[in-house]
Amino acid sequence: MDEERLQRSAVVANNAMNRERGLDGVNSYARDLGFHPLDRLEPPLSGQDGAAWLDLCCGRGRALAQAAGQRRDGLTLVGVDLVGHFDPAAASAPNLTLVTGSITTWRPDRTFDLITCVHGLHYVGDKLGVLARALTWLSPGGTFAGHLDLNSIRLLDGGPATRLVRRLLREAGIGYDARRRLVTCTGPRELDLPLAFAGADDQAGPNYTGQPAVDSYYRPTRTGTRAEPAPSPRRAVTVDDTGVRVDHGTWVAEAAWADLAGATVSRFVVEVADVDHLELTVDLVYGHHLSVADDADGFAEAVAELARRWGRPAPDLAALAPGDGHVDVWRRG
Ligand SMILES: C[S@@+](CC[C@H](N)C(=O)[O-])C[C@H]1O[C@@H](n2cnc3c(N)ncnc32)[C@H](O)[C@@H]1O
Repeated sequence: MDEERLQRSAVVANNAMNRERGLDGVNSYARDLGFHPLDRLEPPLSGQDGAAWLDLCCGRGRALAQAAGQRRDGLTLVGVDLVGHFDPAAASAPNLTLVTGSITTWRPDRTFDLITCVHGLHYVGDKLGVLARALTWLSPGGTFAGHLDLNSIRLLDGGPATRLVRRLLREAGIGYDARRRLVTCTGPRELDLPLAFAGADDQAGPNYTGQPAVDSYYRPTRTGTRAEPAPSPRRAVTVDDTGVRVDHGTWVAEAAWADLAGATVSRFVVEVADVDHLELTVDLVYGHHLSVADDADGFAEAVAELARRWGRPAPDLAALAPGDGHVDVWRRG
């Protein structure tokens, strides 16, 4: 079905979906994104021009309302949702604009330091088209983070496009956290994927969230050869006296020892997505975590250093199996 019919479908206009996520806590953006939105806005907020956060598929707008409730000078908040059932606290916040409309057609008149789409693309037809549009609305250095289930992207012949899209995103320098199913990107980006939206299927059944979701069908639009893509940014992880530092190439995540609750390694395998790698996950005392895959420089050294500081032998990374789950390499004593 096309985007217009999809928006009238019972799967999209579904009252049972979770539209209530707040800023932090159990049912929250901080938890599902793996970072606190206000932390990401802090650097521009402390500058002269203030900061702007756009939340696509914002649901009831509770996360935005809670951000508005912090009364930070220079903070501009915008939320867009197809269904205008906004939380009363969101509707009355002075620095928060709420728009009832579809993110497939709406466009802003400014750029944003943070653009989020928390479990919204699951209900959109042209997920890749929305992603491409949203990436152009970022300010320089701004962050996009949105959930995207690659298993819901299919080629017109019915085959999964999971591996293809994963590769295309990687080649475009766009991050994909397979565990969180989260697309991330820094700074404005032109995303020109060789795929044209062909229609959506609202009968695809539940996705990984357990809720019925929408599959999106694409037609390949290009054949032949293209120039070699730019290499994706080099990642690196270090553990030293200050704590743990993950350099994602375009942005850096750091945690001091005092903020660390524990660290684990695990082997993550998704056969259909051609994924098989190790992940180091560092849990922080306030409920967030940092994670980094084994293609990062210094991965084995970081695991060994954490285990050394814990006073235990480092696990044999080559022998780690998916069934081993998260193996402790450091715990607060
Ligand atoms: C699972 S809810 C998540 C809401 C919110 N982000 C949260 O986490 O609380 C998905 C939201 O996407 C919205 N949505 C679905 N299709 C949309 C579209 N084309 N444009 C804007 N919003 C859409 C739905 O109305 C719903 O509020």
